[in-house]
Amino acid sequence: MQRDLSEELRQIYNCSPDELLLHTARYERLLNLYRLSFSGQNPTFIVRAPGRVNLIGEHTDYNGYPVMPMAIDRDFVFVLAPSSSGVIDIVNESPSFERRTINARFPVPPYQQGDWGNYVKAAVHGILEAGWVDPKNVTGFQAFVGGTIPESAGLSSSSALVVASALAFLAANNTQVEKEQLAELLARAERYVGSEGGGMDQAVSLLAEPGKALKIDFFPLRTQPVSLPENLSFVVCNSLIRAPKSESLRYAYNRRVIECRLATALVAKTVEERSGKNSQPQRLADLSGEKLGLEQRTVDKIVAQAIGERPLSLKDVSYFLGETAEAVQQRLCTLRDGSVLAEPPEGFKIWNRYKHVVSEAQRVESAAGAFQAGDVSAVGSLMNASHVSCRDDYEISCPELEVLVSVGREVGAVGARLTGAGFGGCTVNAVPSNQVRQFIDRVTIAYYHEYVRQEKEKPFTKYTNLHDVVFVCRATTGAGAWPNRGDR
Ligand code: GLA
Repeated sequence: MQRDLSEELRQIYNCSPDELLLHTARYERLLNLYRLSFSGQNPTFIVRAPGRVNLIGEHTDYNGYPVMPMAIDRDFVFVLAPSSSGVIDIVNESPSFERRTINARFPVPPYQQGDWGNYVKAAVHGILEAGWVDPKNVTGFQAFVGGTIPESAGLSSSSALVVASALAFLAANNTQVEKEQLAELLARAERYVGSEGGGMDQAVSLLAEPGKALKIDFFPLRTQPVSLPENLSFVVCNSLIRAPKSESLRYAYNRRVIECRLATALVAKTVEERSGKNSQPQRLADLSGEKLGLEQRTVDKIVAQAIGERPLSLKDVSYFLGETAEAVQQRLCTLRDGSVLAEPPEGFKIWNRYKHVVSEAQRVESAAGAFQAGDVSAVGSLMNASHVSCRDDYEISCPELEVLVSVGREVGAVGARLTGAGFGGCTVNAVPSNQVRQFIDRVTIAYYHEYVRQEKEKPFTKYTNLHDVVFVCRATTGAGAWPNRGDR
């Protein structure tokens, strides 16, 4: 029995024998806790979905441009069994997340904002809406859940939970779906929690390959595994500033999505006026130099001249588009829940957002080449340039991330940048593998011992184990479900 499980885990985690023992012990613990929670019954399935660290390509996904994340060895694991009712009953190992019982009937009404059960509901609602499970014959499940992805830290714990919930629900209903199709569906389904995210997190959680990063293109979804230079490690450092995308940062995240939508409309109008091409673009990538048959530099120049570099008010945008402010709000500023994003007092920073997205897309393409060629110094420079653009043009950094990025570079990272949605969360550092130990020790002293202790008034997250805030990421395989054999 034991051997089956550890063989399964060896393939997933691609790790040393010592680490494998730890992973196996964790799964055994979850299996036991399931039995304790559900009157001694045996679980019949195990599901796992990893978090991710994005190496480069930030806020490009919802614009139709590529990203390059890797799945990590931090994940959600569900041990479960189908239940004869249509009810989903989930117990979370962490006492901060209360047991949730969900009636799997469409439409699934959400809990209040910020409730962890909404990520499970998002998956179930999305699958029922797509008709992948017969609404008249829904099987629920009971599950014990354990998660190791730091929460609200830009490592995609929420999407991993959505993916794991979806795989659990599909397994309970004996339904198979192509992973690409599932990734596309879940990217839309996760908007149930209120942020207008792109498709990176769900795609890498499902489609990653062990030992590789994944270059992902969107609309349609395509993935390409990218080899990582052997002598380079990726170390994640948590700034300890929470960045909950579905709560306080919802406005900041959605604002950028809307600014990009406005950019698309304005660029389209400009191109139409200059070239007569009416391209009906859905998103910025539909207006790339390549798609328009022009040099990217030329497109950028036209855009800068036409829309200018200063922030634009709603009035400016509507004047430019020749529509009323109400029409612009309705067509371009409306969120999935029907609410209209409030106009930022400083105006919409269209040019800066455009500049970040287009230049970041080019950096992803260059980074894919640099990774394949093992060109460590090019990888580092591209990551550093990405950070500058995220900070200055997309404005998603914060003082603590700035300190952590500088510390990372000072103590040996060849490239360091914020990762994920931003506004807090983690940095990712490319560090020569033979210097990782030293790097971690020095970051620990400079950031966690000195900076965090000295800035007492800041709302840093508490932690008990340093290993949960600074760690090397191992690129693992994507999510999966498998039967739990025997009486394990
Ligand atoms: C969040 C979203 C992703 C992506 C990143 C920023 O993680 O879920 O789709 O937009 O932010 O790159």
